[in-house]
Amino acid sequence: MNKKYLGLLTDSAIKARKFSYSPYSKFAVGAALLTQNNKIYTGNNIECASYSLSICAERVVFSKAISEGEKKFSAIAISSSKKIFTFPCGACRQFMYEFGKDLDVIIVRSKSEFIITKLTELLPGAFDKQSLI
Ligand code: THU
Repeated sequence: MNKKYLGLLTDSAIKARKFSYSPYSKFAVGAALLTQNNKIYTGNNIECASYSLSICAERVVFSKAISEGEKKFSAIAISSSKKIFTFPCGACRQFMYEFGKDLDVIIVRSKSEFIITKLTELLPGAFDKQSLI
């Protein structure tokens, strides 16, 4: 990924935390998703008093982009309000795999501290549509 989009994506993920609705966990997560046409979508986690209905930032941002007609993605950046590297949960890894097998995943701790990995590294042996044949 080129440096311009890497910087834009990490900044966007950090900024996206602002709209996190996380009154229960107080753990704000922001995600920024880059399409193959270089458009950036942002999303954040949204919690619910019935806890299990809460939605992670990754699934929110993918849902926003897909519902706007996007189909091809190249990278996602994820940032949390804790000063740690926040990796996507297992459910989100599976959800993202449906739409972005070659996805670069950027785990952002700060503007200058991030880890770039691949979704296939995070979810080896994924269950996908081939598994249904
Ligand atoms: N969360 C995310 O948004 N993404 C992740 O990958 C891990 C967890 C959210 C869900 C919940 O709102 C809060 O973080 C604490 O689990």
